[in-house]
Amino acid sequence: MRNRRAALAAIASAASLALTLTACGQSSEGGSEDDKKGGEGATIGVAMPTKSSERWISDGANVVKELKGKGYKTKLVYGEDDPDQQVSQIENMITQGVDALIVAAIDNKSLNNVMQQAKDADIPVISYDRLILGTENVDYYASFDNEKVGELQGGYIAEKLGLKEGKKGPFNIELFAGSNDDNNTRYFFQGAMNVLKPYLDKGQLVVRSKQTDLNQVTTLRWDGGTAQKRMDDLLTSSYRSAKVDAVLSPYDGISIGILSSLKSDGYGSASKPMPIVTGQDAELASVKSIIAGEQTQTVYKDLRKLAKVASNMVEATLNDKKPETNDTKSYDNGTKVVPAYLLQPVSVDKSNYTTLVEDGTYSESDLK
Ligand code: GAL
Repeated sequence: MRNRRAALAAIASAASLALTLTACGQSSEGGSEDDKKGGEGATIGVAMPTKSSERWISDGANVVKELKGKGYKTKLVYGEDDPDQQVSQIENMITQGVDALIVAAIDNKSLNNVMQQAKDADIPVISYDRLILGTENVDYYASFDNEKVGELQGGYIAEKLGLKEGKKGPFNIELFAGSNDDNNTRYFFQGAMNVLKPYLDKGQLVVRSKQTDLNQVTTLRWDGGTAQKRMDDLLTSSYRSAKVDAVLSPYDGISIGILSSLKSDGYGSASKPMPIVTGQDAELASVKSIIAGEQTQTVYKDLRKLAKVASNMVEATLNDKKPETNDTKSYDNGTKVVPAYLLQPVSVDKSNYTTLVEDGTYSESDLK
C-alpha cells in the first residue's frame, strides 16, 4: 500500500479537519487508512475545467458514476476556466485527504506546485484528457488519440474538397486552433496539418489571411465568442472579394462561433453556401447544426469510455497494480513520458450522425 504518512501529517495540521470533512459529507471512519485505500470508502477528487461546455458536465457525471460503481466516494469540482481557482480547488482536496486525483487541467503548466503537494501527500494523479505538463508528479494519462482527431478534421476537408485527385482548387481555407494553454491544441493542429500542409504547399489550398502558424490561430480557453470575433475580422480583412471554402475548427464551441460570424456575413444561401466547417466533441448544438446543414463535421469521442479508463486507472493504482496502458511513447510532458491509454475518435457528419442515437449518446428527441 502507498505511504499515507505525509498525507496524514498534512491533514492533521488542518485545524478544521473534523468540520471540513463533515461539511463535505466525507467520512474519515471505516477502517484503517491502508484498508480504505484501494477498496470501498476511499475518496477520489475529480477536478474538471469548466461547466461552460456540455462535454465537461458529462465528463464529471460519467467519472463520478464509474467511481461510485467501484465503491469510491467522490468529490467533483469545476474550475470555471480559471487556472488559479483550479489550483486552490485541488489544494483543498489534498488538504481534505482525498486518496487519488483525476484532473482535467485548465492551464497545463499552472499545476506544478499543486502536483508536488499531491506527491508529498502520496496521492496518485491521473491526467484526464488534457496532459499536465512540466512535472513528474502525474502518474497516468487517459485520453484519445489527439493527433488522429486533427487528422480526421483535416482529412474531412481534403476529402470533401476532392483535393486528393490533385487538380482541384485553389480553395480558400482559414485555420483555427484551441487554447494555447491546453496541450491537446498542438496535437489537434499537427494532425490537421499532417493532411493539409501538402495541399497548402501546392497551392490547392490558400489561407488568404496568411495566418498559418499555430500561435496566430489559437483561441484562448476555446471560447466561441473569441472565435466569432476572429472570423469577423478575417472576413473583413481577407474576404471582401473572395469566398471562404473551408474552416478548420478544432472544437464544436469554436465552430458555433465561426458559423455565427459566417451567417452574419450572408453565408448559408444558394449563392453563398456555407463553407465546410469541422468540429469536435459532437456537442448537442453542433449535431443539430450538422442535421440543419450548417456545421459540416464533428469528431465524436465516447466520454463514457474515457471515464471508464480513468476510473480503472485509479482503481489499479490504489491497489498497487499497473493500470492498462496502450501508449508509452507519445505523451512527453517535458519531464517524463506519461504512460497513456488512448481511445479512438470517430468522424461524424450528416451521413452517420444516427450512430450517436444508436450508441445511446443522444435520444431521437434530443436531436429534434
Ligand atoms: C480539449 C478537448 C476537446 C475539447 C476542448 C474544449 O482539451 O480534448 O475535446 O473539449 O478541450 O473543451
